[in-house]
Amino acid sequence: MKKKPIIIGIESSCDETAVSIIRNRDVLSNIIIHQNIHKKYGGVVPELASRLHDINIVKTVNQAINLAKISKKEISAVSFTLGPGLIGSLLVGASFAKSFSMGLDIPLITVNHVQAHILAHFINNSNINNCSPKFPFLGLVISGGHTQIVKVNDFFQMKILGSTLDDSIGDTFDKLARILGFHYPGGPIIEFFSKNGNCKKFVFSKPLINGLNFSFSGFKSHVLQFIKNKLHNNPSFIKENLSDICASIQRTMAEIILEKVQKATLKTNIFRIALAGGVSANHDIRQVFISFAKENKKWEIFIPKKEYTTDNGAMIAITGLLKYEKNLFDSINVSPYSKFKNF
Ligand code: KG4
Ligand code: ZN
Repeated sequence: MKKKPIIIGIESSCDETAVSIIRNRDVLSNIIIHQNIHKKYGGVVPELASRLHDINIVKTVNQAINLAKISKKEISAVSFTLGPGLIGSLLVGASFAKSFSMGLDIPLITVNHVQAHILAHFINNSNINNCSPKFPFLGLVISGGHTQIVKVNDFFQMKILGSTLDDSIGDTFDKLARILGFHYPGGPIIEFFSKNGNCKKFVFSKPLINGLNFSFSGFKSHVLQFIKNKLHNNPSFIKENLSDICASIQRTMAEIILEKVQKATLKTNIFRIALAGGVSANHDIRQVFISFAKENKKWEIFIPKKEYTTDNGAMIAITGLLKYEKNLFDSINVSPYSKFKNF
């Protein structure tokens, strides 16, 4: 009987050192070390991020291997994020993966981080549907680095239908959170304070962008100006209205992306939608999509389990596995890239 491949996935594109081991499509371990140091700086400090990856990578790999209860020798291939991301951080993962591949004489597999967010849906039991989407489907990548609607025809046949012209949705959450006095990353904090808020209390104008592209910078400036004006008349405005402000911001963002996805479904005639990326952890965004899908029977919506929304090694490992099955291996000479490259 053919042995089931075991793949190690290494993710170091931003501020998480993450390593996962998968066998076939089952996750054996998925270790994530968050770099809390960036909280006080209001965003990720690249120099600090790469140094911390360097400090954490060996122990994270060892933990992932131990938890998976395998020996290094059983690993069939090593996959790692080549880009996009912070170059210094990527270099740490890349150097480690190259050495690992040479040391164990196993194939090296590079992974596009954005593609991996989408392919996380092919890990067994990785979404709330407990099954992977059939092709073709629309991938909605909503993360700190990217906001894209992607037509997914096959594992490695993806076409971008729309993307942000300026800020990503995650960055917008983080910057608005900062205005409200929260630390980085602000998305989960906005979600937390939204819980008992009235999402209809404040009305923020939505961007008017034709087609399937997004824009968040105007929305962000609008909210910023609104809060500044209110603070001018009432210095306690944020304190007195925090839940309602957070809920209103969150719901407006949910509606902005839902409207774009609706457009994309009509344009492509594809009604199977898979959410991906850190912002898809947001409860309200998930609910807005689930409710819409309930009312629109054509829609089939796939929502990742929380552990596969924000950056993780398992999404890198599954992409590695899918490439491994097609013998898509890379040479030791590859170098990381910071800016998004087409799939
Ligand atoms: O996918 P991810 O971990 O990293 C990138 O590839 O960028 O996404 C990180 C982003 C951050 O902007 C963070 O604030 C946001 O995801 N995020 C959330 C939530 N959890 C993470 N935004 C809104 N609500 C959340 N619960
Ligand atoms: Zn990511």
